[in-house]
Amino acid sequence: MHVAAAIFDLDGVLADTTQAHYLSWLRLAKEKGIYFDKQINERLKGVSRMASLEILLERSGREFSAAEKASLAAGKNNYYREIIGSLTPEDLLPGAVTVLDACRTRGIKTALASASENAPDVIKNLGIAPLLDYIVDAKYITNPKPHPDIFLSAAMGVDAEPRFCIAFEDAEAGIRAIRAAKMMAIGIGCRKRLCQADMVFASLADFSLGMIPPFCV
Ligand code: BG6
Ligand code: MG
Repeated sequence: MHVAAAIFDLDGVLADTTQAHYLSWLRLAKEKGIYFDKQINERLKGVSRMASLEILLERSGREFSAAEKASLAAGKNNYYREIIGSLTPEDLLPGAVTVLDACRTRGIKTALASASENAPDVIKNLGIAPLLDYIVDAKYITNPKPHPDIFLSAAMGVDAEPRFCIAFEDAEAGIRAIRAAKMMAIGIGCRKRLCQADMVFASLADFSLGMIPPFCV
């Protein structure tokens, strides 16, 4: 068995920020009188800010200009940044540091593949920047998840071949992206929703590197 790199999604895998995204969209939706609920929010997981806004606006019953959309997205981001400004290491999800540390101990490179342009600030506030060898800048990824680009870019950043990478995701789009990148996909969350993953765990706390089968030699 050889694992060269472990690639992590951020929101909902390492960081307890899913609710913060949800509350920020909800605040915007309420302000604009647009219906929004948890079920719609599920569709936003792993999806970029602008693409998320398009989903939210499906229920608005009207057209928005590009300038209006930019202003709405900026509004959501301001609300989100208000919340993440006070993140601390306590907002790491269970098992996050243990798995990152275990990778370090075994000489496995670690990388972050997050669709969030706020990822660098979140990582800093959570105090895990020293445990990550590479962070992909979402701003420079043209094709979002479920395209494989962000995971391939993360693998390249740590000089690892995709077939020797394992990657962790809580979003369906993310699992599809990992599979498209030909990496081993480890789902974090609901087994039914993430059924395309190679393995699924309720949280990173239930996972350990010893559980990985010898998928490559
Ligand atoms: C992903 C989240 O990690 O980042 C999505 O799952 C979010 O919900 C996306 O929309 C973009 O985040 P940001 O911080 O750039 O608006
Ligand atoms: Mg996520």
